[in-house]
Amino acid sequence: MDGEKIIEAAKVIKNGGIVLFPTETVYGIGANALNDEAVEKIFIAKGRAQDNPLILHISDREMLAQIVEDVSEMEYRLMNAFWPGPFTIILNKKEGIANVATCHGNTVGVRMPSNPIAQELIREAGVPIAAPSANISGKPSGTKLSDIFEELKDKVDYMIDGGETDIGLESTVVRVIEDEVRILRPGKITQEDIEKVMNHVEIDKNVMGEIAPNEKVLSPGMKYRHYAPKTHCKLIYSSDSNKMIAKVLSIAKEYQNVVILSFREDIASFKGYECIDIGSKNDLEEVSHHIFSALRKIDEYDVDLALIEGVEAKRHWPCHYEQINESM
Ligand code: TXA
Ligand code: MG
Repeated sequence: MDGEKIIEAAKVIKNGGIVLFPTETVYGIGANALNDEAVEKIFIAKGRAQDNPLILHISDREMLAQIVEDVSEMEYRLMNAFWPGPFTIILNKKEGIANVATCHGNTVGVRMPSNPIAQELIREAGVPIAAPSANISGKPSGTKLSDIFEELKDKVDYMIDGGETDIGLESTVVRVIEDEVRILRPGKITQEDIEKVMNHVEIDKNVMGEIAPNEKVLSPGMKYRHYAPKTHCKLIYSSDSNKMIAKVLSIAKEYQNVVILSFREDIASFKGYECIDIGSKNDLEEVSHHIFSALRKIDEYDVDLALIEGVEAKRHWPCHYEQINESM
């Protein structure tokens, strides 16, 4: 990667502009988190709800100290275990800073990314970078520049092309509440990963359930329809692979045009139907890597329904689709 581009992008950030940049999870649209006017531009570019706070991306612990206070021992342990990486932790915010980024709340989501371009950009800018995933709200997050170029090219001041992102899934968002780690948004780091370093890890009830319009939630982002193609989608899951295939086929028959997001091993069973390969069912890392990009492709097929083969629920697919669980 051309270091000059990063320096150029850092200048744009310092001058109050917004920059599209890669992280190890997905691309982000970043601005100086401490500049409220600059952060406002992100909300406008994304069409993002005003009550959905942004993650602040930092390059080192000194930056952390600028924005948070009263960090507990448990919170430090989590940061030590998962930073730099796809892990966001909600902490107590220092008063009076990053007001727009945090939607005037008293907490702030913080993440130290591992992607070298992201790290260097933050270090060079010298300020925490507030950045949501790069997409228009409601659409799947961008894992390569070509996926998001058209929808964002006129909305940002600078773009850094860092190739395809390593992970392809967003960061896991957690908050420590009393002595428990609560997963507010599932992501790359799983409950099992966190359980290796902490005793009590729970998935917040809003992650899988429906959220009533006025219900107060810990992670506002979970209220909104996200990663959703325009096409109607059904997620099918059974631990028995043959049952899952049979169910997909029986639903597919009822529709004129369908596309199936299929495990590679099952594509042969869906002969005659359009399929998008989401990777091997024996390699869930590969599946998480492909999923956003596969979700983006669905609308290109112009079909009545997309059927998605599911994975075991504990992996928590990052979506709110109609789910059909075949009895085991
Ligand atoms: O991997 C990622 O996390 C990517 C890259 C760019 O870092 N970013 C990302 O940002 O996915 P975004 O804005 O799409 O999602 C941030 C999530 C939302 O669900 C939001 O509600 C939650 O984090 N969040 C941020 N600050 C919060 C806070 N103070 N309290 C509760 N939830 C917060
Ligand atoms: Mg997002």
